[in-house]
Amino acid sequence: MLSSVVGQITDSATFVINKKVMELRNKGVKVVNFGLGESNFGIPPSIVRNAKNAISHNAGYYGPVKGLKKLRTSISEYLKKYGLEYNADNIIMDAGSKHLIYCLMMILAEPGDEAMLQTPYWVSYYDQAILSRLNLNLLRTSEETGFKVTGQQLNDSVTEKTRFFLINSPNNPTGVMYSRKELKDIAKAAVDNGLFIISDEIYSEYTFDSEHVSIASLGQDIKERTIVTGGFSKSHSIGGWRLGFAAAEPEIIDALAKVVSNTTSCAPIISQKACVDTLGSEEDSSYVKDSVEKCKVNADYIHKFFVKEGITCVKPNGAFYIFPNVSSFFGKSLKGKVIRDSTDFAKLLLEEEMVAALPGSDFGVDSNIRLALAVPFEEVQEGCERIKSFLSKLKD
Ligand SMILES: Cc1ncc(COP(=O)(O)O)c(C=O)c1O
Repeated sequence: MLSSVVGQITDSATFVINKKVMELRNKGVKVVNFGLGESNFGIPPSIVRNAKNAISHNAGYYGPVKGLKKLRTSISEYLKKYGLEYNADNIIMDAGSKHLIYCLMMILAEPGDEAMLQTPYWVSYYDQAILSRLNLNLLRTSEETGFKVTGQQLNDSVTEKTRFFLINSPNNPTGVMYSRKELKDIAKAAVDNGLFIISDEIYSEYTFDSEHVSIASLGQDIKERTIVTGGFSKSHSIGGWRLGFAAAEPEIIDALAKVVSNTTSCAPIISQKACVDTLGSEEDSSYVKDSVEKCKVNADYIHKFFVKEGITCVKPNGAFYIFPNVSSFFGKSLKGKVIRDSTDFAKLLLEEEMVAALPGSDFGVDSNIRLALAVPFEEVQEGCERIKSFLSKLKD
């Protein structure tokens, strides 16, 4: 018999929907894919060159557990732009930041302790907490609160079992960003209550109108209890190359290294060599700037579209997602199929109009759906047309 946790977790929703999209595309169906949270702007040429070079120089070996020193040094330099001072020894690489977040759940808490997350949460946080035998302490947010929690909310909900609060700004699935002031408030609550903060900053490059603020930059006391995670998957379109990092106090990095050395062993050596001199180069800056600009255009366009359709939708100011509230369509039907929840809505939208989106229920908020926007602009336009057509067909 399998462990009971297996029954409590699901396949990552993003990958499930992407499998369906691939099946349809293989049959020649033209699907607009707002499902997968993956940037789609091509790999920067210098990364491709370096990867090829690494392969031809026999880079088939295991790397050091914490990652190549040169790469960690470049990340240490890069993080300074957010006011973060970590030397290379305070940084660890791994096969994706997702795995590092999972490792953190294991090293920061005992089984039966609480992981504090906000809703909506990124799907994997929830399942990783379950896999780590943690209980969930969920802080609810909504459109009215701008999908953000406050320090007060944290103070009111913390228990003696709560070990950490996980914050993700810019946010998946809402695109919302926390301001410096809001983060200060949360930082104070975390320090007052002795909590660790896992600060998932994988979308730090994707900001539209305001600067990314890292909670760890707000003072020594909060820095000491924060672990910043990030990586190259989103900013450099190499999600499949599995390259993420964490920056924190040496004690935490050493504990992470123990878990990494016994699980993934190290980050893929080709990916590390490919990215070793990427960050901060001229080519890198213009590539990232260009990708972010495309996402901003997409986000503005689709936000206006939803507002025009009378759909409540918080305007994203970062990342590449939008999270419209479709609950006003619950109870309506199409061809005899009634939409009862966000899963029905997303399923019917895919069946009827070949538009892939994820149900909000996967993120802990059933009234909404999530659309990923790092796709060509023409696809966003086409997707909006199809969604409009879908909505017009729904009957009371
Ligand atoms: C919020 C968030 N954190 C982390 C990750 C995982 O990133 P990585 O590819 O570094 O594992 C993702 C990927 O979708 C994400 O959306």
